[in-house]
Amino acid sequence: MRFVNNYENKIKEIVQEKKLTYCIDTMGCQMNENDSNKYMGILESMGFQKAPIEKANLILFNTCCIRENAENTLFGRLGFLKQRKEKEENVYIVVVGCMTQQKHILEKIKKSYRFVDVVLGTGSMRLFPEKLYKILCLKQKEIEYLEVGNEIEEEVPILYEDQYKASVSIIYGCNNFCSYCIVPYVRGRERSRKPEDILNDIRKLAQKGYKEIMLLGQNVNSYGNDFEEEYHFPDLLKEVEKIEGIEIIRFMSPHPKDFKDDLIEVIKNSKKIARQIHLPLQSGNTEILSKMNRKYSKEQFLDLALKLKQIPDISLSTDIIVGFPNETEEQFLDTLDVVKKVGFDQIYMFIYSKRNGTVAAKMEDKTSHEEKVERLERLKKLYEDMLPELNQKMIGKTYFVLVEGKSKNNDKLYTGRTSQNKVVIFSADDSYIGKIVPVKIDSEHLWYLKGSIVD
Ligand code: SAH
Ligand code: SF4
Ligand code: F3S
Repeated sequence: MRFVNNYENKIKEIVQEKKLTYCIDTMGCQMNENDSNKYMGILESMGFQKAPIEKANLILFNTCCIRENAENTLFGRLGFLKQRKEKEENVYIVVVGCMTQQKHILEKIKKSYRFVDVVLGTGSMRLFPEKLYKILCLKQKEIEYLEVGNEIEEEVPILYEDQYKASVSIIYGCNNFCSYCIVPYVRGRERSRKPEDILNDIRKLAQKGYKEIMLLGQNVNSYGNDFEEEYHFPDLLKEVEKIEGIEIIRFMSPHPKDFKDDLIEVIKNSKKIARQIHLPLQSGNTEILSKMNRKYSKEQFLDLALKLKQIPDISLSTDIIVGFPNETEEQFLDTLDVVKKVGFDQIYMFIYSKRNGTVAAKMEDKTSHEEKVERLERLKKLYEDMLPELNQKMIGKTYFVLVEGKSKNNDKLYTGRTSQNKVVIFSADDSYIGKIVPVKIDSEHLWYLKGSIVD
């Protein structure tokens, strides 16, 4: 479905007359970031200009409900805005994204946060201009529950903050129903964008000078499973590889259960696919994995991870949940064991958070919160103890780095990332920004490396 904005001119008139500004506050994952880029594109196409949150007329919250604290973040921030809304004219509050797909959240907004003007669910972006028109021009407010949109919206204007790297969604939704996870309920079923739509977007980005592309989906290697013809993620990767100007291809997230040899071959043979793979483990214990509905065992994960590790210079990152309902000490030790055996360069770790409506929410949980916090600390410590050795292997070697800009902490130094997604800091000047340059690694500092450009 093509995105059409029938209200563009009418809204533009008001925006120009009142000089309206906007601010987007994004919570959650990169899929949400990507949606926010589209909201930004839509708003700017109607003349809104960006402003800091304290001053902006329209404040859009793009919400996440993956864990409880993500939800609390929204309510905290909304609370802050209540006063502004009461005191000032022309303040509009929009809430979009995953949280709004939960009926109880919508009820809470309607009851306790009545100053919210517009609510939109996931995949309902095409309704945004109409809702905005109603509130801006007709002062008509309707907060209603919208079913998870299962359409694919194409040709939505999109704007990126970054000039050299951009993300492109290739598949929406998720069919995996991991027992702990809310995403399938709030993002709907898997639907893949047509290869031509994706490739055209990337070609356009390449023409604008973008060098790095991140292909996004809750499970990128399910890409194409909903097509009648045989066309899957590795086929798409091969096409993206051919696009001139794109030098680095990343993707997130693949599911270990769908990581087949053909994908490994494409990665191995590619000159552009980053030497970094995100491989979400979740737990290292087969029984817990089965309760999580992950559809792989500890051994199958280890086989896959170690196979990937054979690709020269590859780095692996992962997601881990500690304290799944009734997780025992012994089962947790399996997670530590996998971490020790694989050696992850990056671990995103979370304490299990109960999500109403999911299968795991009904499971008995005797493991105490204190125990869970303590396990998280042990996992963190193991990871941090292992990281220097992984970093040290890079010292003395030269890696290509996309120079992103000045380092935040030191004006004279510049920062960028290697293909392995390691942050490197080095001396350079503004003329290097946006270029991919060889940098020799001199030293490691846990979360970043220091290096020097090789002439
Ligand atoms: N589709 C991606 C993950 C999306 S959510 C994938 O399968 O890898 C990002 C991460 O949040 C998950 O990998 C998981 O580690 C974590 N997560 C999801 N639900 C959670 C919950 N209920 N409690 C704690 N962490 C959770
Ligand atoms: Fe959630 Fe699992 Fe789908 Fe990832 S694959 S979004 S963890 S249900
Ligand atoms: Fe959160 Fe929705 Fe992403 S729940 S993690 S923003 S898909």
